[in-house]
Amino acid sequence: MKNTSTWWIKIPLIFFIIFGITEFVVDSGEMPAFIKYPMVQVFLVFVLFLLIVIAVITRAIENVMFQTLSKEAQERYIAAKSKSFHWKWGEETYQNLLGSKPIEKEGEIILDHNYDGIRELDNNLPPWWVYLFYASIVFAVVYLARFHVFNEYDQIQEYDQEVAAAQLEIEEYKKTAKGLVDANTVELLTDAGDLKAGQTIFESNCVACHMVDGGGGIGPNLTDQNWILGGGIKNVFHTISEGGRDGKGMIAWKQNLKPAEIAQVASYVLSFQGTTPANPKAAEGDLWVDPNAPESATPAEEASTEQEVDSTSVTMN
Ligand code: HEC
Repeated sequence: MKNTSTWWIKIPLIFFIIFGITEFVVDSGEMPAFIKYPMVQVFLVFVLFLLIVIAVITRAIENVMFQTLSKEAQERYIAAKSKSFHWKWGEETYQNLLGSKPIEKEGEIILDHNYDGIRELDNNLPPWWVYLFYASIVFAVVYLARFHVFNEYDQIQEYDQEVAAAQLEIEEYKKTAKGLVDANTVELLTDAGDLKAGQTIFESNCVACHMVDGGGGIGPNLTDQNWILGGGIKNVFHTISEGGRDGKGMIAWKQNLKPAEIAQVASYVLSFQGTTPANPKAAEGDLWVDPNAPESATPAEEASTEQEVDSTSVTMN
C-alpha cells in the first residue's frame, strides 16, 4: 500500500485556497486579515489540523480495506491507482491545434524528392498559427479604419487624457495625505481645526521664546511684518522645520514635529500677523513683501501698522 504520493501536495494546496478565501472574505483594510485578527490565525491553525486529521483517517481506512482484499483484488486496486491521469479533451485539442499527422500516417504527406535519404513532409500550417494570422488581419483592418480613416483619437490625446486623470488622482491623494507637505508645497492653512492644532503645538513648544501672543522674547516678534528669515508660509515652514541661524536658539523642529504639524503651527504663526501683542519686541529683519501679493499691496502702503492689517487680509484672501 504505497499510495502516499499526494497528501503533501493536497494539504498545502487546500490550506492555501482556504487561506486565500479568508483573506478575500474578511475585510481587514490594508493589513492582512490574519495579522489584524488573531482569531483568523486560530481558525487557520484549526483548518490545518483538520486537514491533517482527515488525511490520516482516510489513509488508515484505505489501509484497513486494502488488507481485507484478496491478493488478486489488491493487484487490481494497485493497478487502477497507478494508472496515470489523462485529460482527454485537453490532449485532443492540443493535437488538433498542432495539426500534425501522427507518425504512423506520415507516409501520406511525404514528398517525392529524396536528398541523400533526407525527405520532406508536406505538413499543414498549424491551426493555432493560422487562426492567429487571420485574427491579426481582422485586427489590422479594424485598426486601420479606426485610427487612420476615422481618426478616432491619437497618441497625444491619449497621453493628455492619462496625464489629466493622473493629475486628478494626485489632487485626490494630496487631500488625504497632509503629511506629504514640505517647504515647497506647503499652503497656508485656514481651516479652524488646523489653526487650533497649530495653536496647541505653539503653546506647548514655542511660547517660552516667542510668548503666547507671538510678541517675542528670546525669539523675535512674530506679529510684525519684519522677518529675519523670510515671511510667507513657505519661508516660515522652512524656518520652523530647519531652525534659525546657528547659535541663535531656534532649533530645527523637524525632529519633533511632523510635516503636517509644522504646516499647522506655521499657519498659526502667520495668523499673528497684524495683531497687537502685550509686549511687542522691536521689529528685526526685513520687511517681507509677498512676491505673489496683489498689486495694491505696495511696500509704501504697508509702511504704517494700520494698513498692514489691510494688506495682510488682502494677501490672505
Ligand atoms: C529656545 C527658544 C525658541 C523656541 C523654543 C522657539 N523659537 Fe522660534 N526663534 C527663536 C530665535 C532665537 C529665532 C531667531 C532665529 C535667527 O535669528 O536665526 C527664532 C525664529 C523663529 C521664526 C522666524 C522669525 C523671523 O523673523 O524670521 C519663526 C517663524 C519661529 N521662530 C517659530 C517658532 C515656532 C513655531 C516654535 C515652536 C515650534 C519656535 N519658534 C520655538 C527662538 C525659539
